[in-house]
Amino acid sequence: MSDTLTLALGALAAGAVGLWAWRRWYPVSFWYGVGFPARAALVYLTWRHVAAGCGLTRHRRRWRWTLDAVPVVGSAARGAATVVEHKRRVRRVDVERAPRLGVLRPTALGWRLRVRLHDGQVPADYERAAEGIAHAWRVHSVRVVDVRPGVVTLWATMRDPLTDVTVACETGELLTVRPGKLDNGADWVIDLRVVPHWLIAGATQSGKSNLANAVIKGLAPQPVALVGFDLKGGVEFTPYAPRLSALATTRAECVALLGDLVAELEARMAVCREHGARNVWTLPECLRPVPVVLLVDEVAELFLMADKSEKDQVAKTATALLRVAQLGRAFGVHLIVCGQRIGSDLGPGVTALRAQLSGRVCHRVNDPETASMTLGDLDPAALDAARAIPAETPGVCVLAGQDGSWHRARSVFVSEAEAEQAARDHAYLTPVWSEVTGSTVAVLRPDMPDAA
Ligand SMILES: Nc1ncnc2c1ncn2[C@@H]1O[C@H](COP(=O)(O)OP(=O)(O)OP(=O)(O)O)[C@@H](O)[C@H]1O
Ligand SMILES: [Mg+2]
Repeated sequence: MSDTLTLALGALAAGAVGLWAWRRWYPVSFWYGVGFPARAALVYLTWRHVAAGCGLTRHRRRWRWTLDAVPVVGSAARGAATVVEHKRRVRRVDVERAPRLGVLRPTALGWRLRVRLHDGQVPADYERAAEGIAHAWRVHSVRVVDVRPGVVTLWATMRDPLTDVTVACETGELLTVRPGKLDNGADWVIDLRVVPHWLIAGATQSGKSNLANAVIKGLAPQPVALVGFDLKGGVEFTPYAPRLSALATTRAECVALLGDLVAELEARMAVCREHGARNVWTLPECLRPVPVVLLVDEVAELFLMADKSEKDQVAKTATALLRVAQLGRAFGVHLIVCGQRIGSDLGPGVTALRAQLSGRVCHRVNDPETASMTLGDLDPAALDAARAIPAETPGVCVLAGQDGSWHRARSVFVSEAEAEQAARDHAYLTPVWSEVTGSTVAVLRPDMPDAA
């Protein structure tokens, strides 16, 4: 007997060690082979309680067979104990019905499943319940995604994938960079041909410049012209000068460069018109001009006025920037604008410019208005997520897509040294500004002593 017990305990211990080793060394196959099936069983078995606890169930009246105890008439009167007879009856009873679940599908970091809404329920009911469901399922977060008539998809994430983002910035297709990761574990992709202009907002030290570094590192090996507007005296972008076709560090220089860009856009427009093309991407390849990506750090500096004498210059800058944004999307000029906030308080034209910047990135912010200003009329949950970004996680942000969807994301840490190295390594790809725009403006780009 004791031998059998020892054998059973030994087998159990060996099994436990085996599972531990499997999980430790092969976490992916362990998740799909053991972790996910166990979680799936738990989700289905506990769903009725979870849904009831989160207020998602509905009372329905149903006809049910019941087994009722009925006293036999007259049995007590004969002096004996009351005789009870069990009878089957059909009765209307109240039953609590949980929303019907679809098939649980595994993802790299959790699972997703469809839920059929009860009559009268709306997706917002599930958004309100998401935190409660996440606690009940013991997962990091549950989000409502992919809303269809009568159905929502719940996306459960077991741990926050943004606590440690270490992916390398791979170079993808033309004008595409992968600066970090999304909260569903997928790569964060900035494709300027799909979303041509981006607004990157956030409080100081929230990770805006780091994201700009990641974008520069990703674009440096591509055949594009990079232009920097750095009104912090050039301290942010000067180290990347080898890969910049032009760099402006004063407002006057910005106005001159914007003038060049507007002229270049008009020239591109004329070429497109001549060849019956609606945008530069439909031109024959030999005529396609080099794409230009204009990075603006601390956009507020472009609009701030020390005195009235600067009013004209600020107005000129605002108009030119707006024209570049409006025309650039079709003619291969892209804007990436960083700032602590970009609201109408900066002056006229700012709201119109913001409307042109369809890609939105909101890092940690100091005031709720900045989040709503950046993310627009998005799902209130996105605004809450942006406001909840803690100071200890710089680089974490909320992204808004053009289709109204949103994601939490984090840029990978790219040190200045890394971005500088990428700029030096690819300096030979830097198009000369006068060739890009036909401009005669000189000395906007510092010398490149290290250029290959
Ligand atoms: N994705 C990230 N991962 C880890 N650390 C980061 C990340 N992004 C930024 N940091 C850290 O946060 C610090 C501040 O980042 P950054 O300089 O990009 O902020 P900022 O928003 O540009 O601030 P400012 O408005 O003052 O220029 C950086 O020095 C870096 O150490
Ligand atoms: Mg910065």
